[in-house]
Amino acid sequence: MGNHTWGKKEIFCFIDHKQLIRPANYPEGVKGNGYGIYECKGKKIGIINLLGRTNMNVLTENPFLICKEIVSKIKQETDIIIVDFHAEATAEKIAFAHFMDGSANIIFGTHTHVQTADERILPKGTAYITDIGMTGPKDSVIGMDIEASVKRFVTTLPEKYKVAEGESMLNGCIFDLDENNNIKEIKRVNY
Ligand SMILES: [Fe+2]
Repeated sequence: MGNHTWGKKEIFCFIDHKQLIRPANYPEGVKGNGYGIYECKGKKIGIINLLGRTNMNVLTENPFLICKEIVSKIKQETDIIIVDFHAEATAEKIAFAHFMDGSANIIFGTHTHVQTADERILPKGTAYITDIGMTGPKDSVIGMDIEASVKRFVTTLPEKYKVAEGESMLNGCIFDLDENNNIKEIKRVNY
C-alpha cells in the first residue's frame, strides 16, 4: 500500500484482509500484514511491501534489514518473491535493489508516480526497475490537478490537492520468468 495506508481511518476495519499488504517496516504490533504468500498457476508467490526512509516523513524501521529477515523466513515456502519498495529517493531504491539482489526475483519501486527507464537484470539475477510509474490522469502533477499543484509551489501556502480530470494513462512493468523462475525479460508498459 505505501505511505498513504493510514490516510482514512476506515482502513482499520479491514487492514487485516489477506489481500492487503501495508509496508512491512512499521514497528511490531502495528495492525496489518507486511507481506503475503499467494498461489497463482501452481506457484507460490511471496509479496513484500516496504517504505523507504529518505524524504518520506515516516519514522519506520530499517527496510533493508526487515526485508532480508522476511525473505529468509519465506524463501523455503515460495517459488517467486516480489518486492514493492515504496520510496522517494532513487539512490535508496537502487541501493536496496543491490542489497537484495539474488534474494528476490523481482524488485520494483513505487511512490514517485513517474516511470523510470532503467529496467534491468542485476548481477545476481534480480529483475529491477526504480519506479514502475502510476495509473491515473495524464495531464496532471503526479495525478493531481495542475492549477492547485502549481499554486502550492508558487505561493508555498497549503492548497488542497485535487485529483486531475481528463485522459488517463496506465504504467506498469511485465516481468517474464521461465519455468525455473529465472527472469527472461522485463518490459515497461506505458499506455
Ligand atoms: Fe506513496
